[in-house]
Amino acid sequence: MALLPLLINLLFIIFCASSPFARAAQLISVLSYGAMPDGKTDSTKAFAAAWSQACASTQPATISVPKGSFSLGQVRFQGPCKNTAILLRIDGTLVAPSDYKVIGSAQNWLIFEHVSGVTLSGGTLDGQGSGTMVMQKNSGKDCPSGATSLEFSNSNNIAITGLASLNSQMFHIVINACHNVEVQGVKVSAAGDSPNTDGIHVQASTGVTILNSRIGTGDDCVSIGPGTSNLWIENVGCGPGHGISIGSLGKDSQEAGVQNVTVKTTTFTGTENGVRIKTWGRPSNGFARNILFQHSVMTNVQNPIVIDQNYCPGEKDCPGQVSGVKISDVTYQDIHGSSATELAVKFDCSKTNPCSGIKLEDVKLTYKNQPAEASCSNAGGVASGLVQPTSCL
Ligand SMILES: *[C@@H]1O[C@H](CO)[C@@H](O)[C@H](O)[C@H]1NC(C)=O
Repeated sequence: MALLPLLINLLFIIFCASSPFARAAQLISVLSYGAMPDGKTDSTKAFAAAWSQACASTQPATISVPKGSFSLGQVRFQGPCKNTAILLRIDGTLVAPSDYKVIGSAQNWLIFEHVSGVTLSGGTLDGQGSGTMVMQKNSGKDCPSGATSLEFSNSNNIAITGLASLNSQMFHIVINACHNVEVQGVKVSAAGDSPNTDGIHVQASTGVTILNSRIGTGDDCVSIGPGTSNLWIENVGCGPGHGISIGSLGKDSQEAGVQNVTVKTTTFTGTENGVRIKTWGRPSNGFARNILFQHSVMTNVQNPIVIDQNYCPGEKDCPGQVSGVKISDVTYQDIHGSSATELAVKFDCSKTNPCSGIKLEDVKLTYKNQPAEASCSNAGGVASGLVQPTSCL
């Protein structure tokens, strides 16, 4: 007797759960706020307005940026939002001001702060950074340091997929103080001689994954700063540039450490370094531990495997000091290819805090088709399998 109401109830529940009305994202085009795909009209306000609408909505929202070229000054995609499902779908190109001074002192060009559940998909970011580089070369000090092209800060559950980033004035992509970030299928390119144009910089973040990406710049391919843990990097090609670097760490005396980093299936082509850990030669309570470098192919790389604990640019703030950063449990597994210098493996660790638990397993690096060389100071660990150059641990 109560069967019919029950059935109706059930059908109602099924209908609601699968209803397209319940789940359809509202679509917000930046064009509806006056953005112009003409590469000239400043579309900053239109993007900010589209963001405000999406952020204020409790329904999932898609902000669509159609084909064409959009000129943008600094845009702050500010949270917290009511919305935890915002897709920014870019089919066109976002272009920074051609006069780099407009955003060059602002630190950031496009920044997302205090957001959760944001996906950025597709598109090209053109930082127009080559002007900065020319100016830095010519006039040095008076030149603004340049803006990072894209940053996510203090945010959770972020995805960046299929994005291309060209010629940033500074770092291309920064992940700062975030949890659960997936970067996938990203292409970064800048001139090999453009300073500080790191591809992806991660710091103070946990659960960041970087997959299937191709990065060529004038600085680090991926740089990993203090406070990073549970970072996974897989299938990334680097070059030109300075390779994948944990560090610089230990600049500050009180500093969060780096732990549980996996760098897997990477290629390095003509880079300055392959896999590097770098710390300042000064006191610090920082550390780097539980690091795995696995399946790397090096082609003509100057320093394929390197730990350098004596970083001190200009020898200014650390003469005679040693690094306090403790480096432990670092594994190099199946790393092979060619070194551009005789010294392919270099562990230059801290006198007071020697590296411990270094493992070399199936490493084969050649220089001019001959076995290369290795050097160790204050480094302890073990070698197994074929290891060439002969381990100095
Ligand atoms: C290490 O990080 C990975 C993600 O990169 C995660 O899946 C794993 O649980 C972490 N391990 C520990 C011991 O936290």
